[in-house]
Amino acid sequence: MLPERLTTRRLLLRKFQRRDASAIVEAVRASLPELQRWLPWPHPGYGREDALAFIRESHQAWREGRAYDFAIRHLDRPERHLGNISIWYTSKTQRVGEIGYWVRSDATSGGIATEAAEALLDQGFGVMRLHKITLRIAVGNRASERVAEKLGFVKEGILRQELQINGRWVDHTLYSLLEHEHALRPRSFPVPDRPID
Ligand SMILES: CC(C)(COP(=O)(O)OP(=O)(O)OC[C@H]1O[C@@H](n2cnc3c(N)ncnc32)[C@H](O)[C@@H]1OP(=O)(O)O)[C@@H](O)C(=O)NCCC(=O)NCCS
Repeated sequence: MLPERLTTRRLLLRKFQRRDASAIVEAVRASLPELQRWLPWPHPGYGREDALAFIRESHQAWREGRAYDFAIRHLDRPERHLGNISIWYTSKTQRVGEIGYWVRSDATSGGIATEAAEALLDQGFGVMRLHKITLRIAVGNRASERVAEKLGFVKEGILRQELQINGRWVDHTLYSLLEHEHALRPRSFPVPDRPID
């Protein structure tokens, strides 16, 4: 089980609570054009019921030890929802997992996704004992490809028509990071990730 709260230099990553629903809705609505362009689930009517269903499923996944979703918040402004980051097992027996994230549009290009992902990769290779973590990025999503590059992910190849986004089947690039590659990568910032009481 991962810690329910992690901190990085600037960020608090924590398990979702039911009362996060309206903050999630606000962030999704404020970021809809960008989210809809690259992810399969956002839609113009995204509302409280969607957010509550997400939180319920997220809690279920935590309980079952299958997936760990975190709300991304600034340490000094924790009420504002900055985005989501998740890590989940794709094969427990083979110790393979996957990571995914989004950041609200008015907070992008400030290093948030990279900083949050670095913390979750530490958990993935640490507590979850993964040996490989993958990342699927829609072809053309340069911002996310840049995040992958900054984290040291290696491009494996193209997954044809992997996900349906906005009614269109979209090819994705499969990236992966191996445990030893993550361990050897120089840190851009200290990562003091530890549970907070
Ligand atoms: C992808 C996403 C998570 C990046 O979050 P972020 O907090 O801005 O990420 P970072 O700031 O850590 O890194 C983004 C990098 O991409 C760069 N970038 C942003 N837009 C870009 C573009 N159109 N072309 C090239 N580079 C771009 C930024 O300059 C930054 O690189 P730098 O640090 O070298 O300057 C965010 O844009 C997002 O949520 N997009 C919509 C949903 C999505 O695509 N999720 C990922 C699915 S795989």
